[in-house]
Amino acid sequence: MKKIIASNFKTNHSRETTREFMEDLNQYLVQKEIKNDVYVFPSATAFDKFDLSENLIVGAQNCYHTKSGSFTGEIGTIHLDEFGIKTILIGHSERRHILGESQKEVALKYNYFKALGYKIIYCFGEPLEVKQAGLTETLGYIWEQFDGIDLSYENLILAYEPVWAIGTGVSATIEDIATIHRKIKKKIDKPLLYGGSVKVCGLQDILEVPNVDGVLVGTASWAVEDFKKMVYIASKMDGSSKIIQCEKESN
Ligand code: PGA
Repeated sequence: MKKIIASNFKTNHSRETTREFMEDLNQYLVQKEIKNDVYVFPSATAFDKFDLSENLIVGAQNCYHTKSGSFTGEIGTIHLDEFGIKTILIGHSERRHILGESQKEVALKYNYFKALGYKIIYCFGEPLEVKQAGLTETLGYIWEQFDGIDLSYENLILAYEPVWAIGTGVSATIEDIATIHRKIKKKIDKPLLYGGSVKVCGLQDILEVPNVDGVLVGTASWAVEDFKKMVYIASKMDGSSKIIQCEKESN
């Protein structure tokens, strides 16, 4: 399976810079004949009618479980339908931990979008204190994040995103990723992405870990040149030599 690369813009990029990003990225995919699935999750205010290759997919970072209605500050599926958006992130740690979405609410949202046939990228991962408590606790915490989630859903992609690695600049180690991904894949046969401080340097090592089917990237994906490098690396994964040599750790 070709590696999947996803960019989560979070609360970044305007309508104008999102368009520039999408056009630039699309041109790159066409030029390089890259066929990997590439997802971009812009902010809802930047949704637009983009002219994109089939494998460049725009998704929603969030949507309320409604078509329309009185939910101040939220968007509904009419706002996604307007732009043909059929992909959504659910369970992201920032929605769980900053915006207070409970597992019950996350599951409700999941089931709503599942019933509509959306492609769902379902995120889960443990906070630092759980990781520090050990592997059993970590796996227990993760299984609880699958409560109410139909893991046999055909349009499901999973994303393991340890909370302590998100936006901190400190990615999980290769060993951590390998262990958790192996445990999850043993039970759930779905594409499984890793997310949490993924950068251009280090991406190939992560993509080479068994059971890693791709990555979900925040911070390091917001500069289109960097994201293009990531997409390039993913498209060239054959386990041979280093695709991009990194000089500085921070790249
Ligand atoms: P990060 O975010 O790459 O900035 O750590 C990842 C994510 O939240 O999906």
